[in-house]
Amino acid sequence: MIAIGSDHGGYALKQEIMAHLDKRGLEYKDFGSFSEESCDYPEYGKAVAHAVADGAYECGILICGTGIGISIAANKVPGIRAALCTDCFMAEATRLHNDANILALGGRVVGAGLALKIVDTFLDTPFSNEERHMRRIKGIE
Ligand code: RB5
Repeated sequence: MIAIGSDHGGYALKQEIMAHLDKRGLEYKDFGSFSEESCDYPEYGKAVAHAVADGAYECGILICGTGIGISIAANKVPGIRAALCTDCFMAEATRLHNDANILALGGRVVGAGLALKIVDTFLDTPFSNEERHMRRIKGIE
């Protein structure tokens, strides 16, 4: 189960991503925001981050205008490794190397076509489980 959230800047891309997850038959919960009305990204970033950190959700997807603010907010929650990705290489590498548990995207940065490929890459790439990466992740906490 995927936890997904955005602010107003990521709202439109979030609709595209949820439609894509529906097509793939993947379950998710939308933690808001629920319109394009101006709102504060930390609220949604932290809601998704806590849902993932608590173990209720396997991973999360967060979107704001740039992906920066909402990933910074999510990364304040212990146990969260939110990765802002602008291409598929980053999405693959952050799963293999960082075991990132939240993907952050910029709704004003990437188009829907690329964003959906990034989402698929993130969701479909397992952690490498290599010792050096596990050691480095441990070092983050
Ligand atoms: C909202 O205008 C914008 O600041 C927000 O979506 C995000 O880009 C912040 O990092």
